[in-house]
Order: sequence, then structure tokens, then C-alpha cells
Amino acid sequence: MLIDTHSHLYDEAFDADIDEVIARSRAAGVGKIFLPNINATTVEPMLALARRYPGYLYPMLGLHPEDLTDDWRDVLAGMEQLLAEPDHPFIAVGEVGLDYYWDRSRYDEQQEAFAIQVEWAQRYNLPLMIHTRKAHREMVDVLKSQIVNSKSSNLKLSNCKSSNYQLTGVFHCFSGSAEEAKELLGFEGFKFGIGGVVTFKNSKLPDVLRSTIPLERVVVETDSPYLSPVPYRGKRNESAYVSAVVDALAVIYQVERDKICEITTRNALETFIKVP
Ligand code: NI
Repeated sequence: MLIDTHSHLYDEAFDADIDEVIARSRAAGVGKIFLPNINATTVEPMLALARRYPGYLYPMLGLHPEDLTDDWRDVLAGMEQLLAEPDHPFIAVGEVGLDYYWDRSRYDEQQEAFAIQVEWAQRYNLPLMIHTRKAHREMVDVLKSQIVNSKSSNLKLSNCKSSNYQLTGVFHCFSGSAEEAKELLGFEGFKFGIGGVVTFKNSKLPDVLRSTIPLERVVVETDSPYLSPVPYRGKRNESAYVSAVVDALAVIYQVERDKICEITTRNALETFIKVP
């Protein structure tokens, strides 16, 4: 069994043939698919799709850093109300993070919004699905400062039983250097989300994985409909193609394909503790 830990299957790119897309992913051995949210308008379509495939699709909740609008505080307030409901269906806070690739105009606001959502992960005991682009240093700083904050606020509560400050989650679409990987490995509750980029011809990711990232810290993902692996590069991505990522990892780690499936599935379930 395989788990695609990051797939936007509620995107309109799948409106015409979602049933076939799901059928193909089942046929490819994908046993579960996790759906990261983007913004306020995607919550309902995502939940509707997840309800259509219970036990197969699992939704997350969060505001993507590229989707901050002037009313982002209200958007976050609305989302937090959903997380505060005791029986909410969300398995993680995501996707959240920092992206300074196209737009640095909300430099501080992105960090503020990210910090708020990291705090949700702590409060509601959920893993984080973290998106980072051109923002490694800032992302690490926000994570660290949130961990320090929660420790100091917890010290004031004597005999507080919730002594687990450890954040968990996934560094989605990791494609950084070996040095960055080493730093992120220090966040022990986190896995590295590896997708189509690992199959790209000039990618340095295979070397970084081989030299620095143990397979026990890897989960697989597609980021559908984006970032299709070779040989589908440039086309719409879909969850079945996570299979090409597994093939690449088998070569990189010199481990049998079945073993890659087994280990990455175990890693995913260890992180997404709400998923049965
Ligand atoms: Ni994504």
C-alpha cells in the first residue's frame, strides 16, 4: 500500500474525471490520499470530495502562504472555528508556510499567519503540512520560536500533563540543500515530502536524499495537479503517478520497491496520527 500525502484532487482540473482519477490511483496501489487545503473557497469542495470517498480521502485545513488576502485574519478566524469543533474531519493543519518566490509584499504577514497556524497544530494536536519556497531561514525561525513559546507558557501551568511540545508534520516538496536537510532533520517529528521533483533530470534531490536523509524520514506525495514526475512532466499530475516517485526512491536508496511502499506508508501513518 502507498499513501499520497499531498494531493489537491478537489482542484477544478479534476472536475471532469475524478472517478477515473481515483480508480487509477487505487489500481496503482495508492491506499489513501491526503488533501491539503488552499484557502477559504476550497474548503467546501475539498470536504464534499472527501465525503464521497470515505476512508480513502482525508482533508486538512489551513491557509496557503500564496493565498493571503487583505482579510486573512478573518479567514483564519473562520478556519479555527472549524478546528475547534470536537468531531472535525481534518487530519492536519495545511498547507501552511512561507513562499517568497513570486511575492514578498506580505513578508511579515506570511510569518504571522504561519505562526498562528503552527500554534493551531500545537493546540489541536495535529501535524503540520509545511510549504516553503525561498524561505528556509524564516520558516525555521518561526517553527523554533513557536516551540519556545509553547514551552515557556507551559512552564507556568504547574503539573500540566500535556508536556509534549514536539511539533510534527511534513516538509512538503522538500528540494533544499544537504545543509538545509541537516537542519530540518533536527525537527524530529517531521518527515520530508518527496514528489515529482526527484525524477527531474537536473534535480540535486537524489544526491541530497542519498547522502543526508534516511528513508525513515521520507513520505511520498504528488502535489497533484502540479509537478508531475517524469515521464508525465508538463501534464496534469494525479495520485496514481506517486508510483513513479516510489520507483525513483527505490533506485536512490537501492531498496526494493515494496520496501519503499512499506516504509513510507509507515512513516506517513506515524505522522498523521488521526488516520486509521
Ligand atoms: Ni500543495
